[in-house]
Amino acid sequence: MAASKKTKPTASASAARSKQEVKPDLDQKSHETQRYGEIVKLPNGLSEKVCKESVALLNQCLADTITLRDMYKKHHWQVVGPTFNQLHLMYDQHYEGQVLLVDIVAERIQLLGGIALAMAADIAETTKIARPPRGREPAAVQLRRLAEAHEHIIVNAREAAEKVDKSGDPGSNDVFVSNVLRTNELQVWFLTEHLVAASPVTA
Ligand SMILES: [Fe+2]
Repeated sequence: MAASKKTKPTASASAARSKQEVKPDLDQKSHETQRYGEIVKLPNGLSEKVCKESVALLNQCLADTITLRDMYKKHHWQVVGPTFNQLHLMYDQHYEGQVLLVDIVAERIQLLGGIALAMAADIAETTKIARPPRGREPAAVQLRRLAEAHEHIIVNAREAAEKVDKSGDPGSNDVFVSNVLRTNELQVWFLTEHLVAASPVTA
């Protein structure tokens, strides 16, 4: 029996279909393909339980790091006083260092099959770093506030590094130690050297 003959699309039907294919469809329905807190198992040799524990620790670190990153920009804009230029520049250098950390921590979460926190409202709900006022504060208070935020992140990174090491996730241990800990220890040194008695900056 002969195969049924396919009808050739007319030139106008073909043109209409082509037009439809390149037309943006803005009527996209919202739905989550992975819920926050869920792990998509990837072939990385780690159990789902280990990934979940590491992701939770990394997300807390991420929320605190994003908060510190943004506090640097706030202080970069609002700083005043005789050390304006030095602090203005240092705050921005440290901000850039925190930007790199944010990406490293967030991508570590994703490569473990987790979901990285990202939006400001979620960060505000999760961070343990105290919210600064909207208004301007003296440079010495900015420095104290930043130093406290660093110390919080440092203490938590050390604890998290130990936990993920014990659970058998040395990759996350490396992120906590080589990236988070080292960057924060260095930045807190630069910061606090501005708070010595010889400094013209006092509250
Ligand atoms: Fe700037």
